[in-house]
Amino acid sequence: MADAAAPRRVTRRTFLGWWLASLMTATVVTAVAPILVFLWPAPPKGQKKGPLLVSLDTPLDQLQDGTATKILAPTSPNSAFIMADGGGDNSPGDLAFGAFVVKTGSTVEVFAQNCSHLGCSISFVPASDTHPETSFDCPCHGSRFHMDGSVLHGPAAYPLSHLTWKQGDSPNQIQVDGIVLGF
Ligand code: FES
Repeated sequence: MADAAAPRRVTRRTFLGWWLASLMTATVVTAVAPILVFLWPAPPKGQKKGPLLVSLDTPLDQLQDGTATKILAPTSPNSAFIMADGGGDNSPGDLAFGAFVVKTGSTVEVFAQNCSHLGCSISFVPASDTHPETSFDCPCHGSRFHMDGSVLHGPAAYPLSHLTWKQGDSPNQIQVDGIVLGF
């Protein structure tokens, strides 16, 4: 009669099964890990989303109707604004390093500086004798945008992207949704 307490012998077949399973697992991990790291890279150390405090050249309560003031994302530490919406070359979640605070009537909006055609930086151009309509103009392919961000002239087919913002503690400060880039 066999001794029930005696340890089971590992057969050659069982050992080879374990060895093959281990080899296949190691092969799959070695092949798949770099692909996963490529698809979902770890964010740089110190990267953090949150409101960015920005100072305005023209305080909100002095911004005239039909005018705009430019803001830049803070550079110390290096940061960027995050678009809330977008079309064409811009999408929600895309980054912008500059923007315009725009007053039209009683409405204040903040638009990313990125042209919705191919992303060049727009300029604010007040109306003049040679430029009958106040607009945001793109130097790359001639797109123009109304003060409310809508398209005045193509080739851009989509409006400017909004940024989400709120007033800061003083009229010359606003908080804009953004990200500290961590590099
Ligand atoms: S990138 Fe602005 S018109 Fe083309």
